[in-house]
Amino acid sequence: MNTNRAIFIPVILGTPRQGRMSEYAAKFVVGQVAKHSGIETELIDVRDIPLSTTDAGEAIKDSQFSETVMRADALIIVTPEYNHGYPGMLKHLLDTNLKEYIHKAVGICGVSAGGFGGTRVIQNLLPVMRELGLVTIFWDVNFSSVHKLFDDSGTLLDQSYIQRTDKFLQELIWMAKVLRYGRENVSLE
Ligand SMILES: Cc1cc2nc3c(=O)[nH]c(=O)nc-3n(C[C@H](O)[C@H](O)[C@H](O)COP(=O)(O)O)c2cc1C
Repeated sequence: MNTNRAIFIPVILGTPRQGRMSEYAAKFVVGQVAKHSGIETELIDVRDIPLSTTDAGEAIKDSQFSETVMRADALIIVTPEYNHGYPGMLKHLLDTNLKEYIHKAVGICGVSAGGFGGTRVIQNLLPVMRELGLVTIFWDVNFSSVHKLFDDSGTLLDQSYIQRTDKFLQELIWMAKVLRYGRENVSLE
């Protein structure tokens, strides 16, 4: 096992909506992850993954998404809050894998037009994460009133999000390292 390889933390952008503000949040998070030495990241856009809508689950697995999640040590999900829940496309995508997630860390960033920063979508995603075998952390990022947080070109307008996101990443990276050590060195028995 190559324990020297970089920790890999892809970021899933969970909505395909035209004009989605979550894209700015996801790209900002990718940029923040990329600043950490020894950590690799990439953006996974639900729009780009062709999935059948006449079936569900592992039967419609996309091989590239599956390989990316298999290589990942942790995932970051950037999701808007739609009627207090998660976008159907995000769930449809997440449902296509299972073993790929086991004993890996996950951090969630909520995005909302309102002032709660996707708190309710995050709460609703937590039981899904558990069922997938992912390990959640006790930090989130809440992109509240997102239309005021980014300008039209996606530039961050509120610099406090840099520190908030760093706190979240510090915890996620720690969990990713611990879980990788566990997967590679501790047997289940
Ligand atoms: C179908 C739908 C439902 C929504 N429900 C909520 C909601 O429950 N709470 C909220 O704060 N914003 C809600 N919004 C507004 C989004 O928070 C807003 O569009 C924000 O920019 C994040 O989503 P986006 O990435 O699609 O832009 C909803 C938007 C859509 C399209």
